[in-house]
Amino acid sequence: MHDIFNCRNAFKMMLHIPAVLSKAQVAELRQQLDRSEHWMNGQLSAGSQAQKIKKNLQLDSSSVLYQQISPIILQALKSHHLITSAALPKHILPPLFNCYQDSGTYGNHVDNAIHYSPLLGQAIRTDVSLTLFLSEIDEYEGGELVVEDQYGCHEVKLDAGDVIVYPSTSLHRVEPVTQGKRIAAVTWIQSMIREDAKRSMLFDLDMTIIKLRQQIGDTEEVLQLTHHYHNLIRQWGDL
Ligand code: NI
Repeated sequence: MHDIFNCRNAFKMMLHIPAVLSKAQVAELRQQLDRSEHWMNGQLSAGSQAQKIKKNLQLDSSSVLYQQISPIILQALKSHHLITSAALPKHILPPLFNCYQDSGTYGNHVDNAIHYSPLLGQAIRTDVSLTLFLSEIDEYEGGELVVEDQYGCHEVKLDAGDVIVYPSTSLHRVEPVTQGKRIAAVTWIQSMIREDAKRSMLFDLDMTIIKLRQQIGDTEEVLQLTHHYHNLIRQWGDL
């Protein structure tokens, strides 16, 4: 785990979650994605401002392949305990698949606050942004996801199968891919906890409780901390 990606403090959280998909799962997905003929210009899905800075390809969401693989990835994200703990999801959108190559890039932007969920048939608020890397680091040059916050720029380039989550309020970009191909899945989460700072504190508390349980077992005090955790969610949660 690379510490630089885990920039946690009281206000913002970026979290690197390794091996959300196995190498075998990635290989199978890549085989299907690499031979698909349903890659479209990613500008078609962007607003007019984003069109000027976005240059990538996106898998057609009406294609059979998309309909097959998107639910599988969504299920993998939903069932991962660290994603659940870090994002406290109320809704997770079906992931989109994108491909950057031939100097493909996405300039500085903040993600749209509202996304339409085809599953729910309603709009959701984006609190947490998520990228699942599907290309290995040595498959391409450039292509770093750069997330800016008040502490500076964080460059993210992860192994295939790994995930980064970061607040959707962050300014971010994807650097030009000068060689090779960078394939990733991206999605957005509406959290039960709207504020980054509160979500970050709950994550720290949850991780501390898990470590304590491993070290000393379910003592009275550990149980009390667990009660606090649940009562904070009750207090802060927007359900
Ligand atoms: Ni974005």
